[in-house]
Amino acid sequence: MIIFLSFAAASLAVPKYSKPGCKDTCGNIRIPYPFGIGADCSVNPWYVVDCNSSKPYLSAALNHLEVLSVNLEDQTVTVNTPKISGCSRIMSIDLGRSPFLFSKSHNNFVVEGCGNAVMMDHGSTLTGCSTTCANGTVNDKNNCHGITCCQTTVPYNLKSYAMNLTRLEGHGGDGGCGSAFLLDKNSSDDPFVVRDGSFVPVSLLWTLSIGS
Ligand SMILES: *[C@@H]1O[C@H](CO)[C@@H](O)[C@H](O)[C@H]1NC(C)=O
Ligand SMILES: *[C@@H]1O[C@H](CO)[C@@H](O)[C@H](O)[C@H]1NC(C)=O
Ligand SMILES: *[C@@H]1O[C@H](CO)[C@@H](O)[C@H](O)[C@H]1NC(C)=O
Ligand SMILES: *[C@@H]1O[C@H](CO)[C@@H](O)[C@H](O)[C@H]1NC(C)=O
Repeated sequence: MIIFLSFAAASLAVPKYSKPGCKDTCGNIRIPYPFGIGADCSVNPWYVVDCNSSKPYLSAALNHLEVLSVNLEDQTVTVNTPKISGCSRIMSIDLGRSPFLFSKSHNNFVVEGCGNAVMMDHGSTLTGCSTTCANGTVNDKNNCHGITCCQTTVPYNLKSYAMNLTRLEGHGGDGGCGSAFLLDKNSSDDPFVVRDGSFVPVSLLWTLSIGS
């Protein structure tokens, strides 16, 4: 059974930072309990962080997602995930049996470029948005409201999703290609700021399961 523990309620029992005797930073990133650097320092194997060349990564089970920050109050961990780019691409991300979920309140679904993208879960469409890219449109780097960039909210408690990025037909312009990704809202007010990387920050909510 999974219980969504409020960290405020649990904080009396949980140390503020790392477990005694454990390193509490990797590079300049603080790694508080229930996460921990090494197997004996975390609450369970899902929370093991590998510190490699001063960069923290979640354990192998989650494909070594790079950890950017851990927020105890919000019970979130911000990690780098790949974004899909191209003219017609499908990509899925699955957190599997892990205790992590994509946070609704911390992330938006963002599409950049000239295209249409939907987010799906097991074949059903969850959300999506389209950009308009008229012939000659100059990227407006100051907003993400439909012209060469659109964003929308995501459903609660997502464990996995697939993104289907397709070109926009009949809109003139360069034919339509782009990229789609979930983006941590707090990382930037402006998704364009992170546009050039192939990885983007995403916030995951963590849960602690009690019993079996
Ligand atoms: C550590 O990082 C290096 C390069 O960034 C990589 O080649 C190596 O496989 C990593 N080791 C582990 C244990 O993740
Ligand atoms: C719009 O597209 C047409 C045909 O592809 C091209 O000839 C024209 O130069 C474009 N206009 C602008 C402003 O890019
Ligand atoms: C992706 O979207 C395109 C266009 O809407 C559609 O034709 C295609 O079937 C979709 N692919 C999947 C796997 O849903
Ligand atoms: C949001 O960003 C600010 C400034 O970078 C930081 O102080 C705050 O802890 C962040 N909040 C979350 C939920 O990550």
